[in-house]
Amino acid sequence: MNNQQNTTNINYYPGHMHKTKKDIKNIISNIDIVIEVIDSRIPFSSRIPDLKNIINGKKSIIVFNKYDLCDESITNKWMEKYKNEGSIVITSDAKNSNDYKKVIEEVKSLMIDINNKRSLKGLLPKKAKCLIMGVPNVGKSTLINKLIGKSVLDVGNKPGVTKRLNVVKINEYMDLVDTPGILWPKFENKEVALNLASMTIIKEEVLTVEEVAIHILEKLNDYYKDLLKQEFGIEEYTSDNIEECFIKISKYKNIPIKDEVDYERISMIILNSMKQEKIKKITFDRI
Ligand code: G4P
Repeated sequence: MNNQQNTTNINYYPGHMHKTKKDIKNIISNIDIVIEVIDSRIPFSSRIPDLKNIINGKKSIIVFNKYDLCDESITNKWMEKYKNEGSIVITSDAKNSNDYKKVIEEVKSLMIDINNKRSLKGLLPKKAKCLIMGVPNVGKSTLINKLIGKSVLDVGNKPGVTKRLNVVKINEYMDLVDTPGILWPKFENKEVALNLASMTIIKEEVLTVEEVAIHILEKLNDYYKDLLKQEFGIEEYTSDNIEECFIKISKYKNIPIKDEVDYERISMIILNSMKQEKIKKITFDRI
C-alpha cells in the first residue's frame, strides 16, 4: 500500500476528547504514575500517539489488556519492542483473571526510589496517585473495578491536593485518580482506523460495516486461515472473490440469499464474531 492509499480523511476527534486531554494536562502534575491500557490484539493501533506529550515525563506502565484474545507470539514481539524502548509492560486479562495484582506490584516497585528518599528524611511512604488512560473499549473500567474490588471506602475529593482530584482509594500503596481517561488515537492511517473498528474501538458509523468486515477477512486470510475456515467456512479470501466469499459465508451461517447476497447483514455477522470473542488468538498489528 502506498502512502496515498494508506491515508484517510477520517477526522473523528470529538470535542469531549479535547476536553479530556485538557483536563488531564491540568492534573498531570499531581499524578505519580500513568497506567496506559491497550488492546493486545492491536498493540500499535490502540496506543495514544501523543501520550508522551500529555503525560509530560511521568512514569508509566503499559497494560497489554485482553491478552487472552491475542496471538501471543506476535503480541510478545510488541512487548519486547516497547520494553526495549524503555517502557514497563504488563499482560492482563482484566475480565477473567487477577492480573490487576501485577499492576499493583509494578506501581509498588515504581515508588521504591521515591519512598527510599522519603524514608531517609523520616517521612512516611507516599501512596502512588495513578491515572488510568486509554482509548475506548480496551478494558479500563473492567481493570478499575478489579482494582477497586469491594474494599473501596472513600470516593471523593481529598484535601491537600492543589487542584482537587477525585481520588479512589485502592490500597495502602496506591490511589486512583478518577478522571475520564478516555482518549482517542489520532488516526490518519486507514489501516489503524480499520484495526480500531475491527475491535469495536471506533463505532461502525465512522467506516462502513462492509469495509470493516472486509478488513477482518483480509487479516484472517493473511495470518489466520484456519480461523477463516472455522468461523466463516471459506478457504481463502481475496479482493477478486468478494461476492463468492459472501455467498459462501451466507450459506455457512444459514442466511437465505434472496435476489442477491445481503452484504450488510453478513458484514454485521463478521463484526459480531469479533465482538462476541468467537475469533480469538489473533493480533492484527505486525512489527
Ligand atoms: P473501557 O472502560 O476501556 O471502555 O472498556 P470496558 O472495561 O468497558 O471493557 C470493554 C469490553 O471488554 C467489556 O465487554 C469487557 O468485559 C471486555 N474486557 C475488558 N477486559 C477484558 C480482557 O482482558 N479480556 C477480555 N476477553 N475481555 C475484556 P462487553 O461485552 O462490552 O461487556 P460485558 O458484557 O463483558 O460486561
